[in-house]
Amino acid sequence: MVLTPDFGPRDIYAQVEKTAIKGRHLTFIDDLSSDELDNVFLTAEMFEPYWRSGLELLRHRILCTLFFQPSTRTRFSHETAMYRLGGNVLTESNPLVSSSAAKNESLYDSIRVISQYADVLVLRHPDDERVLADIELLAGDTIPIISGGYGNVTHPTQGLLDMYTAWRVLGGDFSTMSVMIATPDLSRARSGQSFALGLARMGARIVYSGTTGLRTPDVIREKLDGMNATYVEHNDLTIRQQEDLIADEGIDLLYLPGCSVKKGDPGRDDFMKKMEEYYFTVDGLEKIREQSGKTVGVMHSLPRNEGEFDFGIDQTAHELYFKQIGFSVPLRMSLIANIVGLN
Ligand code: CP
Repeated sequence: MVLTPDFGPRDIYAQVEKTAIKGRHLTFIDDLSSDELDNVFLTAEMFEPYWRSGLELLRHRILCTLFFQPSTRTRFSHETAMYRLGGNVLTESNPLVSSSAAKNESLYDSIRVISQYADVLVLRHPDDERVLADIELLAGDTIPIISGGYGNVTHPTQGLLDMYTAWRVLGGDFSTMSVMIATPDLSRARSGQSFALGLARMGARIVYSGTTGLRTPDVIREKLDGMNATYVEHNDLTIRQQEDLIADEGIDLLYLPGCSVKKGDPGRDDFMKKMEEYYFTVDGLEKIREQSGKTVGVMHSLPRNEGEFDFGIDQTAHELYFKQIGFSVPLRMSLIANIVGLN
């Protein structure tokens, strides 16, 4: 046991002061240091008793959600988190139809205007380069912006809730954790890549399994290399080879970022065909347990499609993807409270 000078009863105000990320944007998960990540998780744990009942910490504060791409989880859970903190929400889920973006208002102008109303903005946008350029241009003329997913490369709050789930289920020590991220398309797996960046920041081991030609984007590799991350990328493995790899390497968590190709898009049939070699089953996970002695946790960012994995996993101890949804609310309460601040 190590005694520290700040040892004492838990205090949310003191915890938020300690996290010290008030007023910051969140674009990539590795914008946060390992200490800041730890403090975001500690704050989230303090909010867990209130994730249903709520508490009055951000009365009269306003969160705006502006989503240029469809969403259920990311938008609703940020909005739920803000309501549970006692705050209010402005929501725009179809800006190209029902906001002045339909009258050609630029993203820059929209953010500058919203910043006069709200205290924090959660933005989802298909064009990461556009958003990053506008955030730089806006400088001091914007409220903090939390990415709800930009382009193909970043979805940091999904990565945070995945990390928080891993932190809770495996006891908080990332340095002993091994995580496999498996998808035919690592080039567009923004949730899996955000999880990977956070895991790398905390010293966990990452094993990618993807396909030739759709590898991890250079922007993510540069970040992983910059953090001296321990990671390896395998390509074109069969499902049996992946199961053996999981058992041999003692993988703790299997992360399935899901289908990146929308219904009706060219290439979806090809993606779903490749997906056949990523179809993890209850029997396969049981075989891994017999080989390695580990009950591998299965994580997925959802939504999911038939054909991605055996939905029979829902009824087993491997299932973490619906539990992730529960953890997303206290995690996002923590993020909002820490970024807006309590004073
Ligand atoms: N996981 C996720 O980002 O889901 P939504 O698209 O529903 O927000």
